[in-house]
Amino acid sequence: MAATLMDGKALAARIRAEVEGEVAAFPRPIGLATVLVGDDPASEVYIRLKHKATLEVGIEARDLRLPASTSEEELLSLVAELNADDAIDGILVQLPLPEHIDEGRIIRAVDPLKDVDGFHPVNAGLLLAGTPGHVPGTPLGVLELLDEYGVELQGANAVVVGRSDIVGKPAALLLLHRHATVTICHSRTRDLAAETSRADVIVAAVGVPGIVIPAMVRAGATVIDVGINRTEDGLVGDVDPAVSERAGLLTPVPGGVGPMTIAMLLRSTIRAARYRSKELAHPAA
Ligand SMILES: NC(=O)c1ccc[n+]([C@@H]2O[C@H](COP(=O)([O-])OP(=O)(O)OC[C@H]3O[C@@H](n4cnc5c(N)ncnc54)[C@H](OP(=O)(O)O)[C@@H]3O)[C@@H](O)[C@H]2O)c1
Repeated sequence: MAATLMDGKALAARIRAEVEGEVAAFPRPIGLATVLVGDDPASEVYIRLKHKATLEVGIEARDLRLPASTSEEELLSLVAELNADDAIDGILVQLPLPEHIDEGRIIRAVDPLKDVDGFHPVNAGLLLAGTPGHVPGTPLGVLELLDEYGVELQGANAVVVGRSDIVGKPAALLLLHRHATVTICHSRTRDLAAETSRADVIVAAVGVPGIVIPAMVRAGATVIDVGINRTEDGLVGDVDPAVSERAGLLTPVPGGVGPMTIAMLLRSTIRAARYRSKELAHPAA
């Protein structure tokens, strides 16, 4: 029997409508600054989508574009300006940055309260400690989808393929905090299929088209495909579509995790405004 497709588009639309109501009820305007350095075409698409979604929910969006030749010092001084700007609640610096800029240095420069991407080491550390502040949007979206479809996580075998700071690691931590038994796989994992075959829940965040094939999936498992890969056949995920013949639940690409990432960014921007107005306490403040 074919897997039930997990509709990230519909869930994201609901979350965006919720955020719109919260923005309207907030006692002052809420501002998000996005910073794009250079002209990477994929990054431009992501920034355009984020900007559009931000405006649609009534958040004031500042769309800052800098040339690829921007120096690290120039970018640091822009981040410092945004940190000090009272009209800006959230700051998002689109990655990857051009090679001559030290990404870690830029990430560490963002005020942790305004770090809506959750990449700052303070926010990463808080997640590790189990007292999260801002958390990256993609793994938050993954958990939201699992909850929406009533997937039992407590005691479940969850296998996360990929260990990046923006998806794999935070997804694994969120699953661990929900009492799943978590295995993290990566490029040096000796037998990926042996690991994924034991999984009740697979989260694939690899960047390799179709790396998860039906033989690697236990019948009835839940499979979350985070991958967005541009190929000659168009946008494809990390999961072979034939997995739908084995999985119980599966996220489509597009229309699964992608729209959730943007919805969670909007939710994080509201959260940033609440941190800054002291309505909510940031755990590190
Ligand atoms: N849906 C969304 O909103 C969204 C958001 C972010 C990313 N993405 C997509 O998600 C995918 C992953 O993104 P990312 O930023 O996490 O990528 P990344 O930083 O390149 O990390 C990829 C991870 O996959 C692992 N890996 C690579 N080849 C492997 C293999 N053959 N077997 C097992 N593991 C392997 C790598 O292992 P090592 O650590 O050992 O190198 C690494 O940990 C990409 O397709 C990206 O476009 C989607």
